[in-house]
Amino acid sequence: MLSLVQFETNPRLQQALSGLELAPVSPDSNLQNRRLLFAVAVDEAGPGAAFYAFLRRLRRERDALAGSVACLVVDGDTELYTKAAARELVLAANRAGCLLPGRPLVEATGSLYNQHIQARNLGLSWEETYFLRVRELAWRLERFQPPRFRRPRVLMLHASDQKRSNTLALGRAVCAQLEDCCDIRELQLLNGTVYDCRGCGYHACLHFAQNNTCFYGGVVAQEVLPAVREADLLLFLCPNYNDALSANLMALINRMTSLVVQQELRDTYLAAVVVSGYSGGDIVAQQLLGAMSLNRGCILPPDFCLLQTAHDPGDAMKATGAAAETENFARRLREALLP
Ligand SMILES: Cc1cc2nc3c(=O)[nH]c(=O)nc-3n(C[C@H](O)[C@H](O)[C@H](O)COP(=O)(O)O)c2cc1C
Repeated sequence: MLSLVQFETNPRLQQALSGLELAPVSPDSNLQNRRLLFAVAVDEAGPGAAFYAFLRRLRRERDALAGSVACLVVDGDTELYTKAAARELVLAANRAGCLLPGRPLVEATGSLYNQHIQARNLGLSWEETYFLRVRELAWRLERFQPPRFRRPRVLMLHASDQKRSNTLALGRAVCAQLEDCCDIRELQLLNGTVYDCRGCGYHACLHFAQNNTCFYGGVVAQEVLPAVREADLLLFLCPNYNDALSANLMALINRMTSLVVQQELRDTYLAAVVVSGYSGGDIVAQQLLGAMSLNRGCILPPDFCLLQTAHDPGDAMKATGAAAETENFARRLREALLP
């Protein structure tokens, strides 16, 4: 049975959860080795104090959710703060050892307008669609089996300078630890070769995708997206650029629309190396997991992201503990991927 960890409530969230077989548990209890459904009510000022107290617990206790698998429902009174709350909770839970299946979030904004496309496709009201998606989420969480691979195919994606980049040096050190058990491919997204998504309508996007291309075609459609489709683990190398993913990586993620209209990435794991010159790695990690897991559907293995601070070329590998952190990160990936 699923364990329900709830932060605040409202009548609509209660109705969404009613009828599900859930065992309520306290956020302060032992939450290891469980199937957890987090339910968060967010009002016009954001999540309540208990939510932040829980984040603080997860950030301190790095094994608080070891062996657990989680999904979440976030229900807001207004149009704001639901996604931000989800990203924060997912990062904290994941760093506390929790695995999250792809698309682990059902989000209800105040108006429920965010349900309108699915509602139209299903022929249901916005509220009925929300309730149905919560039931479907609970169903998926209960049955989810993390995929395992005899020889995982790892695709390392980056847009970094070959000689100077700290992020690339760390990424290659991680791959060196995985070489004996994985097939590893490295793809560099060269500046100027990745056009951002044009935002074609759904049917035009699907039409291009069915012909294995996209409006812009080029190296992304011909080489990068087929490699993404084949990979079991996507390893994103993310230097912090103005507290965000770099434009090349973001453009690639946007262009993946043409891939996911055809095929979900539900058996593909996501991992990342994030390097900041000064600060803000958590913001970049949240942006990546938001795009690639909450939106695109990749699985987050426990502690999916290696976070480092380094600025001058070579600093990342020289930092105290870098070798051990790289080794531990590679070990966690092995444990997640191999039978
Ligand atoms: C355009 C640009 C913007 C950057 N913005 C930030 C930033 O907002 N915060 C930060 O901590 N580091 C920032 N940095 C520094 C990089 O994150 C840092 O150099 C780090 O080592 C990763 O880059 P690398 O893999 O190329 O070495 C920025 C670097 C560049 C080139």
